[in-house]
Amino acid sequence: MNKKGFSDDFLWGAATSAYQVEGAAFTNGKKASQQDIINQNNYKERGFATAEIASDHYHHYKEDVALMKEMGFSTYRFSISWSRIFPDGVGEVNEEGIQFYRNLIAELHANNIEPIVTLYHYDLPWALVEKYNGWLDRQVVKDFEYYARYVITEFKDQVKYWTTINEQSVIVQYWTTKNYVPKELQSNNQLRFQINHHMNLAHAVACKLVHEIVPNGQVGAALGYSPVYPLSSKPEDVMAAQNAHDLRNSYYLDIYFKGEYTKAASIYLEEHGLAPIIEKGDMELIKEGYSDFLALNYYASECAKACPINSGKKIRFNGVNYSGKKGEISGYETHPGFYEMCKNPNLDTTDWDWAIDPIGLEYILRDIYTRYGKPLMITENGLGAFDKLTVDKKIHDDYRISYLREHIKAMSRAIDYGVEMIAYCPWSAIDLLSTSNGVKKRYGFVYVDRTDDDPKQCERIRKDSFYWYKKVIENNGREL
Ligand code: BG6
Repeated sequence: MNKKGFSDDFLWGAATSAYQVEGAAFTNGKKASQQDIINQNNYKERGFATAEIASDHYHHYKEDVALMKEMGFSTYRFSISWSRIFPDGVGEVNEEGIQFYRNLIAELHANNIEPIVTLYHYDLPWALVEKYNGWLDRQVVKDFEYYARYVITEFKDQVKYWTTINEQSVIVQYWTTKNYVPKELQSNNQLRFQINHHMNLAHAVACKLVHEIVPNGQVGAALGYSPVYPLSSKPEDVMAAQNAHDLRNSYYLDIYFKGEYTKAASIYLEEHGLAPIIEKGDMELIKEGYSDFLALNYYASECAKACPINSGKKIRFNGVNYSGKKGEISGYETHPGFYEMCKNPNLDTTDWDWAIDPIGLEYILRDIYTRYGKPLMITENGLGAFDKLTVDKKIHDDYRISYLREHIKAMSRAIDYGVEMIAYCPWSAIDLLSTSNGVKKRYGFVYVDRTDDDPKQCERIRKDSFYWYKKVIENNGREL
């Protein structure tokens, strides 16, 4: 086969998100985001680090950009903290907050690193949660527009690539950790899809703003996406996998690219009283906010099997492994009569039960490109692991190298079959606070020396994967 390889302008980099890496959570005018509060609770309940210091990137950003430069990055995907810029969600801009991003973006450009900016990565200003329960209220779309217009206008000449909202599908699944939801509302599953609908409106607004304000701007959502395989070739398992695919994947992609909700998934939601309330004009707005590309966050594939309506099981949305011991996942998403997620017996997993499946990446790139025909970028992909710092200050993360190597190979095969790829930004540039497992679950090319209890000095130490990725970038993915 004719190997195309990575184009000369292919962007190599890595990703982070504001609350997971920056720290300085209450510094220079920033007020709390919902993640500051959620992570304070995580610390109390599970001993996971708070977001207060995280990796202290706020104070180390020059050093971090220098490390990116040393690896040869041509891009860096990061998010902007809404409450650093508008501490109360709307109103007065916090000059010191916006200055941080001006400095960061200038530093990136000075090092020839193209920024890919995410407008929203789980960290809604806490003020808006207090005011009207955040994403549960339609007012949030207006306030998001206020924030997004300001940021997009500010950086219109410095930032070409914008991603809107990080992982709506994951927010629906894990809505009480990616969102602050008052206890009394947590059993109302319809609200998951209502939040998602408000996010669809916010996404469309942001797409329109980029098209209106940024010369040659490109915009798309960043979607957490896993292919769903049937547990067996029994027709009922294959059908269950299709149902899961409709509700977990197409339900989002069809909005971004066709401006409509997937039929079968919508019917399932309506029949179970889970469908969002859609107001007049909403679908027109969603259609107007078209995407130029799709940013994909890919970690693992999923597996589904049939779940008969009379199985006696109840609807549930997710399972989490908090311990980092394989097999301790708390359960699987279940929709009786539609599908039930399960472990794939053919694949090994990470310590947190995430299936390791590079072919899954090739599969989704090919599938999505065939169905929607838009360029794709990877804005997350990586292996969460317990890294060990040796006495001579080394981190021998060969397991991460082998995970990334196989995923880059998979992406390269997809390119050979004609998929248009813009960028590869694995998770994460440096170690940071995990969304569900504290700082001991690490993803970075750079080790940040801290524990869940003790932030120490957050010293940066290059891992073996750092030197490996540097070489990959040097030879544009030809030698892995
Ligand atoms: C993605 C998120 O879901 O996965 C990131 O966009 C997150 O914010 C990453 O950190 C890995 O998940 P976790 O729970 O291991 O941090």
